[in-house]
Amino acid sequence: MNIKSCTILLLFVGMASFSNAQRPAIPSDQRADWFTQARFGMFIHWGLYSAAEGIWKGERLRNGNNYAEWLRYRNRISNKEYTALAKRFDWDKINPEEWVLLAKKAGMKYIVITAKHHDGIALWDTKVSEYSLPKLGKTNRDVIKELAAACKKHNMRLGFYYSHWLDWEHPDGWDHNQELTGRITDEQYDKYWQGKVLPQLRELLTNYGDIAMLWFDMWVDHRTTIVKKEQLEQVIKLVRELQPNCLINSRLGLPTPNPGIDFQTLGDNQFGSTYNDQPWETAGTIAHSWGYNSLENQWKSSSQLLQSLIDNVSLNGNFTLNIGPRADGSVPYEGVRRLEDMGSWLTKNGEAIYGDAGLRFNDPRFDWGRVTTRKITGNKQMVYLNIYNWPLDHLLHLSGILSKVEKAFLIRNGKEEKLSFTQNGPLTLIQLPGEQSDHFVSVVKLEYSQPVQVDPSVVAASEFGGYALNSKNYMHKPDEFEAKPFDGLLPDRLLIHKEGTIIWKVYIPEAGQYTVDISCHNFASADVNAVISANQQQLTVNLKPNGKVVVEPHEQYTDEFADNRVGAFNFTKPGYYEISLKTNLKPEQKLDLNRIWIEKVQ
Ligand code: GLC
Repeated sequence: MNIKSCTILLLFVGMASFSNAQRPAIPSDQRADWFTQARFGMFIHWGLYSAAEGIWKGERLRNGNNYAEWLRYRNRISNKEYTALAKRFDWDKINPEEWVLLAKKAGMKYIVITAKHHDGIALWDTKVSEYSLPKLGKTNRDVIKELAAACKKHNMRLGFYYSHWLDWEHPDGWDHNQELTGRITDEQYDKYWQGKVLPQLRELLTNYGDIAMLWFDMWVDHRTTIVKKEQLEQVIKLVRELQPNCLINSRLGLPTPNPGIDFQTLGDNQFGSTYNDQPWETAGTIAHSWGYNSLENQWKSSSQLLQSLIDNVSLNGNFTLNIGPRADGSVPYEGVRRLEDMGSWLTKNGEAIYGDAGLRFNDPRFDWGRVTTRKITGNKQMVYLNIYNWPLDHLLHLSGILSKVEKAFLIRNGKEEKLSFTQNGPLTLIQLPGEQSDHFVSVVKLEYSQPVQVDPSVVAASEFGGYALNSKNYMHKPDEFEAKPFDGLLPDRLLIHKEGTIIWKVYIPEAGQYTVDISCHNFASADVNAVISANQQQLTVNLKPNGKVVVEPHEQYTDEFADNRVGAFNFTKPGYYEISLKTNLKPEQKLDLNRIWIEKVQ
């Protein structure tokens, strides 16, 4: 065999190891199972913009969201000048395997890289366009190929971000400015679609082995812009034909639910607020920008990032955390440190995250932290209490689980320390030691010998020993009463504007006298009467009109919320009680209810 045929054979063997279409298709309802198991992944924004570092000709990024990967568009850079950035890449240093090793170290289970971002430049050696990093940078390196090989070597799933909607390079592609300069025609746009989008996706799905997901990025409904439903459906068809198991995210732009979309991507850095049975993720940044921005110093703390991951898992979601390496491939030290912190936490406490979900509590946000649970194996179920705030009195209040706890442990450095606990109705009280077990998040593990039964409507006991009845944890409220979230000025509240009754379910663990306070804002000029009832006892309170309160001198005033003592209830025995608030508002009257606070008289 001569050298030439030997090379051809080797090439063939290499390609064969990357061939993919033969894998059997996983049933569509199980396609995303690996994704929900994985929970934590790495996003990489890397492209020509990385070489500009958020600065253009001495000027920082202009207007908008301060995303460094938007530099070309924001700073109105010409094609010629922008593409010259490709020369600034330091190929001696660039080593995609290092990204994979960093992701491993961080405990991440998949990587998504910007194969093509909005600037239209492919990172791989595309045959479809002149606009690729290898061609513009005059290098024979194909980062995507190298990354795919490193992922395969280290058993890491790989997905591609592909900007389908926006393409600032292609003459028939779309950029926001076409809203002003006149739309390109549908025919022109379809030229871009048929000539670049579909053929490039075909390359990505053919030449790089198993692709775990294609991550599209259109954050408006396609009906409000140039992209046609049929075009998006062509993408789904192509993906299913070439790699049936490859996931597609919701930013493809078709309204969901849609059988072609495998998981929901929330807005940038937007975290979950309610439990969702369907697979979903937050794509978030480790600082602010996605691409490398040298002017940036807003690094999120390790505990904030860990809590974001745990929060999402407790609502059945993933966290895909972005890093923006520099044009020499290096990851800024601040980013590396945070990923290492997360990885070392996950090494010790990973059982509270991987393959886990949450429980459907009345309100999953306990004042000490969040609950995750391992899916049931046999009859056993594990529940993890992820403690963000170690209780000062070392007593952890868990409300809402009715099943009997068999054992409780504190996880300290990967080892289990037995804990004592008591159970009273839906309330489990766990005795903690004086010292928290982890400086970020300490984990308590509860073992149950049967599938855990949750009370979905009971109000959680506060760490401070009382019960806050609010706009999020009621059992029943009239539909017209609108819950409004904390907006930086006004607290979480329920807008009451007519007659109606709100009911909360509370578990009182000890008989005795309990004081009742109500915090609200009465907009009216006259008093409003409210009746709070429980256990056949009725307390009436006369709520005076509230004025404003100064937030900042001479600058900002806002509605005042005042606490009003209503009286006290006598609960003669432990048990469940329904506590109701009945108001009798006239049509022009309005009341913003913040909370009712119930607390045992000591
Ligand atoms: C946005 C931005 C983009 C970034 C993406 C990640 O849609 O346009 O630059 O890639 O969010 O979620």
